[in-house]
Amino acid sequence: MKGIILAGGAGSRMYPVSQIYSKQLTLIYDKPLIYYPLSVLMLGGIKDILIISNNETLPQYEKLFGNGFQLGLKIQYAEQKEPNGIAESFIIGEKFIGKDSVSLILGDNIFYGNIDFFKRALERKSGATIFGYRVTDPERYGIVEFDSGGNATSIEEKPSSPKSDFAVPGLYVYDNQVVEIAHNLKPSARNELEITDVNKEYLKRGQLSVEKISRGIAWLDTGTPEALLQASNFFGAIEARQGLKVACLEEISLHMNFIDAAKFRVLIENMPSCSYRDYLQKIYKDRAK
Ligand code: TTP
Repeated sequence: MKGIILAGGAGSRMYPVSQIYSKQLTLIYDKPLIYYPLSVLMLGGIKDILIISNNETLPQYEKLFGNGFQLGLKIQYAEQKEPNGIAESFIIGEKFIGKDSVSLILGDNIFYGNIDFFKRALERKSGATIFGYRVTDPERYGIVEFDSGGNATSIEEKPSSPKSDFAVPGLYVYDNQVVEIAHNLKPSARNELEITDVNKEYLKRGQLSVEKISRGIAWLDTGTPEALLQASNFFGAIEARQGLKVACLEEISLHMNFIDAAKFRVLIENMPSCSYRDYLQKIYKDRAK
């Protein structure tokens, strides 16, 4: 299973900072936003990852993660010239995907809580899995409608009269058909290759699973300044209460056995004095207890 993080976009709702700065690099409490979606892929056991963004931002991601070796990952980078739509990921990432299945996460999507729903999707051998999450403002999202048996019957992008309150979050798992499907898409009225059209095609082929995500999981999408502040406050409160960090990539690498304790120690030694380092130092000391 390969993983793609789509982390470009216009970021117009983040103007004026979006003129000089990518949304996915803004701080959510104590770490860049992109750490959160990357942590989801890692917790799903995915190590082979492609980050897609625009030319201005790619060098900054490379500075953050390099080739991923220090985290036990293999990270590659690819350019999206214009924000031509989420489904373009599978055309840009075609070579990277090869003959594999692929999970795509949007660079501004955050999940907090038990991610078994994602692990179950990764275990499916064929077809596509998307998720449904109850929201109060369904007009803003791709919306999935279910029949009385809980099977998906329709998907609509930003409907003016939504048929349900279940939005489709920016986390998707596809088999290899997705590459061919993406190549055959026509741009929508807003001139984008729509991920909703990919999902509709899987639905038409009878190969779309939609899993409802329970209310115990927090799904935050961080497209606006208000949403960023809410997310920062949310994770600040959790981290202050538990003394545990969310989406701390070094800790997750150790936990997933992507790196051993010796490599973890090297990571710590290369950090400046700061609370992030102190935290990892504590994890290192506590690991044998
Ligand atoms: P959006 O929230 O749809 O768009 P945006 O981030 O460009 O912001 P705005 O609507 O304010 O202009 O994007 C969701 C995520 O997907 C975000 O992380 C950016 C990314 N994205 C791309 O990288 N390329 C694309 O073509 C699109 C549509 C989105």
